[in-house]
Amino acid sequence: MMETLCVHPIYDLQGGGNSLLPDIRPSTAYRYLESETLQYPGFHTTYNQIRLGEVMAKLEHGSWGLALSSGMAAITTAILGLVKEGDHIICTRELYGGTRKFAEHELPRRGIEVSYVGSSPMELENAITDRTKIIFMETPSNPLLDIFPLKAFTEVAKQYGLTTIVDNTFATPINQLPLSLGVDIVVHSGTKFLGGHNDLFFGVLVGNRESDRETIFRTAKLYGGALAAQECYQAERSIKTLALRVERQNANAMAVAQFLYGHPLVEAVYYPGLESHSGHKAAKTQMTGYGGILSFKLRASDNQVDKFLRALTIIQPTLSLGGVESIICAPSATSHKDLTPDQRMASGITANLLRLSVGIEDKEDLKRDLGQAMEASLGHPNT
Ligand SMILES: Cc1ncc(COP(=O)(O)O)c(C=O)c1O
Repeated sequence: MMETLCVHPIYDLQGGGNSLLPDIRPSTAYRYLESETLQYPGFHTTYNQIRLGEVMAKLEHGSWGLALSSGMAAITTAILGLVKEGDHIICTRELYGGTRKFAEHELPRRGIEVSYVGSSPMELENAITDRTKIIFMETPSNPLLDIFPLKAFTEVAKQYGLTTIVDNTFATPINQLPLSLGVDIVVHSGTKFLGGHNDLFFGVLVGNRESDRETIFRTAKLYGGALAAQECYQAERSIKTLALRVERQNANAMAVAQFLYGHPLVEAVYYPGLESHSGHKAAKTQMTGYGGILSFKLRASDNQVDKFLRALTIIQPTLSLGGVESIICAPSATSHKDLTPDQRMASGITANLLRLSVGIEDKEDLKRDLGQAMEASLGHPNT
């Protein structure tokens, strides 16, 4: 069971003595005469780095795992390792702003063409060319929680011999196991749910093909996004409570989504757990929980949105997501700020769209906080 796996992910590679917890081994210099593997942080071969990779491989049901210094380091390492000039990659239409920028600016600059598709497998198949190498997916997506059908997409990919990569940051392995659905590589911004306390910055890659492992470790070594021993340890410790936190965040997010849905001051709610969500059916087949993130649109002017955010007392207007504290942001001013206004509009990222990362507080307190802030900024719904 995932709850047990989070607490006891690996029994080998234990620290010295009788300690229940691993050592933190910060050394950057290792004798090489006696060991087969050259140990060096930049080579991703030190004790804490290897441990964290193995922990994540276990949780994501993969055969190898690599910890990196950020989610973006994980994404760029995976993609750059697997493509070359002249290749083509397909991305799902909705992506985290940083990934979108990388796909739109950095990849074309290196002679790599990028296309975007919606959630229909037919659209995906039509986008494939003889130069396509990768299908990169984010599901649920940031910030509108779009759901992409992993099984159908991987079946198409396999037919054409393409590598599939999924950003599993929003779902976490507690709610979704892409490798079990045929995906080749999973990516995480560990900064979010895996770290879970808004105090750690890291990324992870997990896969189950030996050929990808070799390519990706070689690329990671060249691009230099290694993670230090202390951070690897902190990540490992945080993961012990991952299942507990995420299960609570799933339940809280569902309660808050139901509260907001149909509220007279709310124009729309985006949460895959709601039957009204366009991706609900697909989510039900590939997720075991719907996650701790939801988005909603307030019936409000820009000014009122600002007032609403300032009126919240528990939920904090903050960047990032996935931690134990409930936090909220306007993607148009934060994660997706660097997109052009046209791109934001085309993606439905309007100024009144708010992304809420639900924490582990009492759900009634969270609903009360949202309710009072709406009344304070937008007036009483019945007046
Ligand atoms: C879905 C998703 N992927 C990747 C990233 C990038 O991760 P990091 O900030 O750890 O580089 C983010 C950051 O918000 C994200 O939300």
